[in-house]
Amino acid sequence: MHVPHSVHSLELRGELPSHRMTEDKVTGTLIFTVFTAVLGSFQFGYDIGVINAPQQIIISHYRQVLGVPLDDRKAVGSYALNSTNELPTIPMHPTPTPLAEELTMASANLITMLWSLSVSSFAIGGMIASFFGGLLGDMFGRTKAMLLANSLSLIGALLMGFSKMGPSHILIIAGRGISGLYCGLISGLVPMYIGEIAPTSLRGALGTLHQLALVTGILISQIVGLDFILGSYDLWHILLGLSAVPATLQSLLLVFCPESPRYLYIKLDEEVKAKKSLKRLRGYDDVTKDINEMRKEREEASSEQKVSIIQLFTNSNYRQPILVALMLHMAQQFSGINGIFYYSTSIFQTAGISQPVYATIGVGVINTVFTAVSVFLVEKAGRRSLFLIGMSGMFVCAIFMSVGLVLLDKFAWMSYVSMIAIFLFVSFFEIGPGPIPWFMVAEFFSQGPRPAALAIAAFSNWTCNFIIALCFQYIADFCGPYVFFLFAGVVLAFTLFTFFKVPETKGKSFEEIAAEFKKKSGSAQGSKAAVEMKFLGATEAV
Ligand code: GLC
Repeated sequence: MHVPHSVHSLELRGELPSHRMTEDKVTGTLIFTVFTAVLGSFQFGYDIGVINAPQQIIISHYRQVLGVPLDDRKAVGSYALNSTNELPTIPMHPTPTPLAEELTMASANLITMLWSLSVSSFAIGGMIASFFGGLLGDMFGRTKAMLLANSLSLIGALLMGFSKMGPSHILIIAGRGISGLYCGLISGLVPMYIGEIAPTSLRGALGTLHQLALVTGILISQIVGLDFILGSYDLWHILLGLSAVPATLQSLLLVFCPESPRYLYIKLDEEVKAKKSLKRLRGYDDVTKDINEMRKEREEASSEQKVSIIQLFTNSNYRQPILVALMLHMAQQFSGINGIFYYSTSIFQTAGISQPVYATIGVGVINTVFTAVSVFLVEKAGRRSLFLIGMSGMFVCAIFMSVGLVLLDKFAWMSYVSMIAIFLFVSFFEIGPGPIPWFMVAEFFSQGPRPAALAIAAFSNWTCNFIIALCFQYIADFCGPYVFFLFAGVVLAFTLFTFFKVPETKGKSFEEIAAEFKKKSGSAQGSKAAVEMKFLGATEAV
């Protein structure tokens, strides 16, 4: 689990002197190491996006394997209509008898379920593993933990890559589940490792490269998913198995990466090794500044007791911040963003776009561009305001997305309204609700309760991701063109919650943030309680 250091938090909040900026330089080893680490984030993004474009092709393969005939009235993603790809046509029953009709419906339901599981088993894996990233990193060291995690990625990729040779649906569901385990681990390990190797003044900027590599992975998966590249009936299995390439590359390169000096010094008490690693990363010999900083951090960490997950909910001082933390992650996922990333091709198809896969690539490009924009915005505007602007924008876009779908029969140009609304929906997401929950939660808590808070926050993120992955197709089938009205309602509810309950953290010390929470939860003794909270964090037993 990513546990940013207090110095890091201070720096993020702009409380450290800026003359330090001049001291840190970007060395070749640092670039190489960060590149290697974010190959994991890239795979994470690839696995999110890869399932999107070939949906209809893989479904038709499932039908063939299971001998399920195509039925227009209840095909999987009837919402999705047809595929743009050339599919082998499977004949319908000529004149279905009631029994045959019932069987057809049952088979169509089975296919819907298998497809939803193929998408969502990934999030189940992520959900389980999100608890263990930090633990694995502490047990084996950061680089070895990433190396070990890669074996999961390779197994997952191989199962999917060879899925045509066996019961494809089972191999794909299992393969995606195992890749999900890898991604759950990586979502903790990569930000933690980067945070620990980066020079202080570059931690914020280098840290955002995790999300940037992730969205690049989504984009690349959408491009190679084009039917004339790998998204064809002949090659889709290669498309799914392709994450073995970055996994192999990362495994090879990790061998040359220095171990985290913070892990060596703070966890293992290996000062000599930590210095050696620092010298490689910094490119100079005098690493006293870093060592002093780590010493301070070690003292701070040992002065505060750890807080358990249960204590987060039972202790009244932590209850409000943990509730807000969970709500931020729920807002991020229940906005329906991954409905777009997993299913946009079929959504665009329903919206009447003639080349839906290209519109999906458009989503990927916009997503990447706005993630890069947010890197700059997040340090200028406040977290709370960006989150609110993002959510409000997504609310308006979701309404337009549904209006576009509802009126499509009357006006053909409505397809463009839906398309532009989806593009803007994604842009607003990346301005705030996308990146902010991942680092804002760390700012709510001091050293003691932070690891437990981050673990439970990541778990809730993956759980909601799973719910959306599993249910989106059913909700879409059930609501038809009105589906995004539902998400608009949800987004509005979370926007109001944010407005009333989420404090601003930018430029604030931990005590000030705690006092804000007290104010928002209706307590009159804001700052007094904040001091108590700090005291509790420092003295409470686990
Ligand atoms: C955030 C979300 C993730 C989503 C991604 C899209 O990282 O946590 O679920 O797929 O943004 O850019």
